[in-house]
Amino acid sequence: MKIIIVKNSAAGGKKASELFKQAYNDGARVFGLATGSTPITTYECLVKSDIDFSDCISINLDEYVGLKSTDPQSYRYYMEKNLFIAKPFKKSFLPKGDALDAVEEVQRYDKVIEDNPIDLQLLGIGRNGHIGFNEPGSSFKLKTHKVALTDSTIEANARFFENEQDVPKFAYSMGIGSIMKSKSIILEAFGEDKAEAIAKMVKGPLSEACPASVLQEHDNVTVIIDEAAAIKLS
Ligand code: F6R
Repeated sequence: MKIIIVKNSAAGGKKASELFKQAYNDGARVFGLATGSTPITTYECLVKSDIDFSDCISINLDEYVGLKSTDPQSYRYYMEKNLFIAKPFKKSFLPKGDALDAVEEVQRYDKVIEDNPIDLQLLGIGRNGHIGFNEPGSSFKLKTHKVALTDSTIEANARFFENEQDVPKFAYSMGIGSIMKSKSIILEAFGEDKAEAIAKMVKGPLSEACPASVLQEHDNVTVIIDEAAAIKLS
């Protein structure tokens, strides 16, 4: 794992967007994307950059079950607002939160990932070490699946909703098995509340108790963290 410590999330976003540009110049055309507060600065930099994604495909990690794509809390809405309106891709895939059949939706998404191998996957990390919505205890072999969110994730995501009761209890998530097939990975984390998860990911045992620890096994991971998220590394 290559670890880059930056001053703050603005510097982290700049660094990540530079790595996107480099990957694009090296031929990457399929980008795996994340939502949440962490990648916002990266998307801001990408929007301002001269990268043209119109010949690229994006595949997002996850989506809440039950939300339509037009729902302002959906991850599709987030992606349109923060990136796709300014930087359209040839095709952008996310799981469909309002899919009628969960089994079919999971299979459809696996086929999307299989047909479009991801060149560069952007990840955030949960305070409990989750990546995508692969919560502690998730098998490292999983493909796309429907997952029950843990109380800690629901609580962490409540800040985006009016009431904690409004946070969906289930999500579709790309599995760790699929994430690990990405040719390269950038994981970003900013703030002290991520320090514990970062320390476990980097120094802890390879364990399903900390899903992100699986990244120790990937040979092309760049971790971009600010000083606060790095405090438990030394
Ligand atoms: C979002 C995702 C999640 C987040 C994680 C951190 O697509 O897959 O794993 O990356 O929950 O969220 P933030 O960035 O809001 O702290």
